[in-house]
Amino acid sequence: MFRMKIREGQIAVVTGAASGIGFALADAFSQRGLRVALADVERPALDAAVAALADRGAPVVGVPCDVADPVQVENLRDRVIQEFGRVDLVCNNAGVVVPFGPMWERPVADWRWVIDVNLWGVVNGVVTFVPVLVAQGSGHVVNTASMAGVTTIPFNGLYNATKHAVVSLTETLAAELLARSTGVGATVLCPGLVSTRIGEAARNRPDRGAEAAARRDSDVLPAQQQAATLQADAVAAQTLRAIEDNRLYLFTHPNAADRIRQRADRVLADTTPLGYVGEP
Ligand SMILES: NC(=O)c1ccc[n+]([C@@H]2O[C@H](COP(=O)([O-])OP(=O)(O)OC[C@H]3O[C@@H](n4cnc5c(N)ncnc54)[C@H](O)[C@@H]3O)[C@@H](O)[C@H]2O)c1
Repeated sequence: MFRMKIREGQIAVVTGAASGIGFALADAFSQRGLRVALADVERPALDAAVAALADRGAPVVGVPCDVADPVQVENLRDRVIQEFGRVDLVCNNAGVVVPFGPMWERPVADWRWVIDVNLWGVVNGVVTFVPVLVAQGSGHVVNTASMAGVTTIPFNGLYNATKHAVVSLTETLAAELLARSTGVGATVLCPGLVSTRIGEAARNRPDRGAEAAARRDSDVLPAQQQAATLQADAVAAQTLRAIEDNRLYLFTHPNAADRIRQRADRVLADTTPLGYVGEP
């Protein structure tokens, strides 16, 4: 099986690159001598991130981009090709979360925003960049999902639904890329809790007033985030290894297997058909 070696001079695109895991990925690529396009919807933070990496000397470019908008993602692709001439690595990483609570209490605007960024953002990245990678016969796509994409965490249903979709999308993408012998690989990044600014995701919400009005006392995410012990740069280091190993799944925390098994056992417990009368 092919494996992509990460080499100096390659071109990486990272969305949600102004903060957290995205910034750590951009930083790690830059340290390996790659030219990096940082894309983000939060402009002052994007400018600061670009300035932090530019000081090191590796060429970087910042591209303001809302991943929920397919036109802005196409503009991102065009800008990267114009600036650097090609693309080797694409990290569809931007993501948001809303306060915890029963899903039936979350306004439709919450569902729309989380699905727009977490799912459409990845879809837009895939349909825009994968044809470029397939045409050149090499490259790798990393889609950021979460442990929430392989488990079920109550009161986080909107986020869970989008992250399960990103896992399924990436599994399918990897199988299709292999079936067509494209030379392009795909990884789904599934971190547990990581110390980032995701608990303040509402800072980038287009309708911030509506979000504030919809907040509930059950907003436990910031507290959970404070309990996160894994740092974003450790996630980035694992991601670079996963790309070079052409690994489909990357679980960054040691307890992943138990949590996945618990869900699988729960599914398997209900697999006996009720009233099936056909051939066994
Ligand atoms: N932090 C965790 O515990 C954790 C765990 C599992 C998965 N994740 C996932 O990791 C990814 C990165 O999140 P993070 O934890 O680094 O959070 P973060 O808030 O620190 O960084 C997310 C970045 O995405 C950007 N962004 C938000 N909406 C955007 C949009 N519409 N278009 C472009 N950029 C946008 C933000 O401005 C921010 O810079 C997300 O997909 C998140 O769901 C995080």
